[in-house]
Amino acid sequence: MSENIVSLKNVSYSYTDYDGAETRVLKNINLSIKKGEYVVILGHNGSGKSTLCKLLNRIIIPSDGDVVCFGINTRDESKELELRKNVQMVFQNPDNQLVEAIVEEDVAFGPSNLGIKNPELRNIVDKSLEDVEMSKYALKAPHELSGGQKQRIAIAGVLAIKPKLIIFDEATAMLDPIGRKEILGEIDYLNKKKGITVVNVTHHMKEATLASRVIVLDDGEIKLDGSPREVFSNLEKITSFGLDVPQSLELYFNLKSRGFKFSNDTKVPLNPQEFLELI
Ligand SMILES: Nc1ncnc2c1ncn2[C@@H]1O[C@H](COP(=O)(O)OP(=O)(O)O)[C@@H](O)[C@H]1O
Ligand SMILES: [Mg+2]
Repeated sequence: MSENIVSLKNVSYSYTDYDGAETRVLKNINLSIKKGEYVVILGHNGSGKSTLCKLLNRIIIPSDGDVVCFGINTRDESKELELRKNVQMVFQNPDNQLVEAIVEEDVAFGPSNLGIKNPELRNIVDKSLEDVEMSKYALKAPHELSGGQKQRIAIAGVLAIKPKLIIFDEATAMLDPIGRKEILGEIDYLNKKKGITVVNVTHHMKEATLASRVIVLDDGEIKLDGSPREVFSNLEKITSFGLDVPQSLELYFNLKSRGFKFSNDTKVPLNPQEFLELI
């Protein structure tokens, strides 16, 4: 059994507006994430996904309940730096995350702020650029790069801090299909080859099928939590939360409802390959 690195106990969160009125956007969340998991979070706009992510690295602290990451309760301000070294975020728009005029300086930003100096700094920057296969762009300006390349630099900047958990909050949403594929490959590599725990917030059902675990948020509550196959088997629930299911699964349920008999109907298919195996 691997250890819990994130645990939320009875966590609620309310935003307070200008006249003091509170809106509760997360309600009594109980959640643990284990080392090495690849968790996808689904939910329609406004369901509370980003709020949940921000609780994990102390961008916000809970209104009620406790968030403990890597043994640090996020209420403990004195541990903020240590927490942020462990938990890093990649956001939707890489332009907001890239701060320097040259790629390698951007990647050096995080570690140099942590006091790391050459030659160690140089090594970390080179290794981080290698990890995202962007070494040959080290001396370019970020604006010369494609969306997917910029997002990879943002990821390199995060890797340079050597976090144990990376949260991607709709990090592929602004990318074209090629850029999205690059980033998904990168996420997979970080999880499988480097052992980094991943939380990926996305609207793409196909991305959800790549995860080890899928969590569905609706109206500030966790409604479904399980393997992709477990979660996507609940077709009616998923659609009632305003979400799609992967295309292969949609076709599968569609054909079944029309009386089609699959000769090898052993499991719901998450991708075209699995669909073909049922026929
Ligand atoms: N800074 C804020 N102030 C007030 N309300 C907010 C703020 N950020 C988000 N909200 C509200 O909280 C709810 C959840 O938002 P969010 O966590 O961003 O959802 P998601 O990421 O799933 O789209 C939404 O109703 C949103 O309007
Ligand atoms: Mg969001």
